[in-house]
Amino acid sequence: MPVLMCPPDHFQVTYEINPWMHVSVPVDARRARRQWEDLRGVYADLGVEVVLAEPAAGLPDMVFSANAAVLRGDVAVLSRFRHPERRGEEPLWRSLLSGLGMRVRETSGPAFEGAGDALFLGDTLVCGHGFRSDSAAIPEVGRALDVETLAVELVDPRFYHLDTCFCPLDARTALLAPAGVSPASHDLLRRRVERLIEVPEAAAEGFACNAIRVGDTVISSTALEALARPLAAAGYRVLGLPMSEFMKAGGGVRCLSLPGVPGARAAQREPQPVAGWRSPVAP
Ligand code: ARG
Repeated sequence: MPVLMCPPDHFQVTYEINPWMHVSVPVDARRARRQWEDLRGVYADLGVEVVLAEPAAGLPDMVFSANAAVLRGDVAVLSRFRHPERRGEEPLWRSLLSGLGMRVRETSGPAFEGAGDALFLGDTLVCGHGFRSDSAAIPEVGRALDVETLAVELVDPRFYHLDTCFCPLDARTALLAPAGVSPASHDLLRRRVERLIEVPEAAAEGFACNAIRVGDTVISSTALEALARPLAAAGYRVLGLPMSEFMKAGGGVRCLSLPGVPGARAAQREPQPVAGWRSPVAP
């Protein structure tokens, strides 16, 4: 399944919209580039096609493509960012996604920050709310994508997006840093996720939950040594990629990735329809 990434050409910390961001702590642009290229290289090694977005000057967080939208099939629900600092990304993601052939939907107004706050556990979309996305967005997103949703309340500002404390790996397995969610949401996830691997707070602070699974590999933003054993028991091996520069903005591996976009290869297979014209080879 192709993954959308946005090169870190303009990545910096120029404002503070989560507790990880400090404009006084400079980003090492060369190191950030290396870390981003390492992730892109791992995708290539694992046979994952990477689709690239065009980065825009003045939008330093655009590198976090997970926040563009949430996708299912050919439908994308576009983000509506909570903070004005990121609102300028919306039209760019809209035109990119529709250019890839996706049908782009929007919420009627409530804030919603895409796959950063909406992750599929099998067919169920688990949606975080409390810091960035409004709970009012959740039923709208569920209807637009025609899926069941499960609302999870985020309570710790360090874990301001769902993907900083929760990571479904398959329909029955997920990582969770309980510190990030309310006691009621913790109970709900315990009931809903057959194999819930609890991540110690210290590992979660290293963005251990900000991970993505490709086949039997879990790519995480930290070495996840504490989790190697439970993950091995679930059939997964862990690959930790250092993400120090992106963590300065509150992001890691998962935030840099939006899985589920149609690949360029697919786009090439499907020519744009031209009015009045039928392919001579079409059935
Ligand atoms: N600085 C960005 C923000 O606060 C980081 C976004 C991280 N993305 C994510 N999916 N958690 O919006």
